[in-house]
Amino acid sequence: MRVIIRPTPQDTAEYVAEYIKNRINTFKPTKERPFVLGLPTGSTPIPIYKRLVQYYKDGQLSFEHVVTFNMDEYVGLPHDHPESYHSFMWNNLFKHVDIIPSNVHILNGNADDLDKECKEYEEKIESYGGIELFLAGLGHDGHIAFNEPGSSLTSRTRVKTLNYDTILANSRFFDNDIEKVPKMALTVGVGTIMAAREVVVVTYGASKAYALMKCIEEGVNHMFTMSVLQMHPRAMICCDDDATLECRVRTVRYFKTLEQTCKGLLVNEASAPIADAAVRALYGISRPHYYDLERARTVDDKKE
Ligand code: GLP
Repeated sequence: MRVIIRPTPQDTAEYVAEYIKNRINTFKPTKERPFVLGLPTGSTPIPIYKRLVQYYKDGQLSFEHVVTFNMDEYVGLPHDHPESYHSFMWNNLFKHVDIIPSNVHILNGNADDLDKECKEYEEKIESYGGIELFLAGLGHDGHIAFNEPGSSLTSRTRVKTLNYDTILANSRFFDNDIEKVPKMALTVGVGTIMAAREVVVVTYGASKAYALMKCIEEGVNHMFTMSVLQMHPRAMICCDDDATLECRVRTVRYFKTLEQTCKGLLVNEASAPIADAAVRALYGISRPHYYDLERARTVDDKKE
């Protein structure tokens, strides 16, 4: 598991947006071979989506050959409800970019047969050859998508009853009235996320620090479902400094030092194969792609 720590939420979001842009562009998607992207909702991805929209407007990124699968949706909330995840995704991303509407997949929480809806969602993902990159946020209790504590770590898309903490956390989107928050949701399973070829989890803020610590410092545990990513061959967690507040100083230093070591190798002009390998091992990307990420950061630093 790679852990990338940036000073602020904005720095983290920009890193992730740049990363996704490069992953899509490097993949060179076509109609026959689209880039299949799993997407979350919540407050965490909003600055990432803003930046992706900006890339599209600047001509740096196209969604024409991107197929998306959202993680989850409330049960019983009309699609056009302002807090439905359908509304969220269209308002924050899809309507601003060139995605083909039929390439967007979001679970239908109003389906007559919810179990069938979930089964067909899995089949649809399969029909595209699986998900290339699943982007995710992190719940306060360490959940991923709506895989609440105690979820099977091999679960697939299904109906879930939301736990009180999640209902309370999400009441901020429903006039702080927990009565208005849907009590059930459809969600991809932990196993669905684990089946993606890459998973990127983003989180910021002290309120997520305990969950993040449990997921990266302690063992795999169904009470903190994101912790299972320790078993994923290509998982990356991107967080800001505040989100690491509950982690040991040793842990934070370890991940930051890895980045310094990698930078040192590049500055000291290690041989090209070594420099390539160092970047790939730490960031999971090619060296030119890494320089893009760094350049984006330098340009932003200069803006401040
Ligand atoms: C909900 C969503 C998750 C999201 C989490 C955190 O539970 N189902 O996908 O990661 O909230 O939300 P936020 O990003 O607003 O903190």
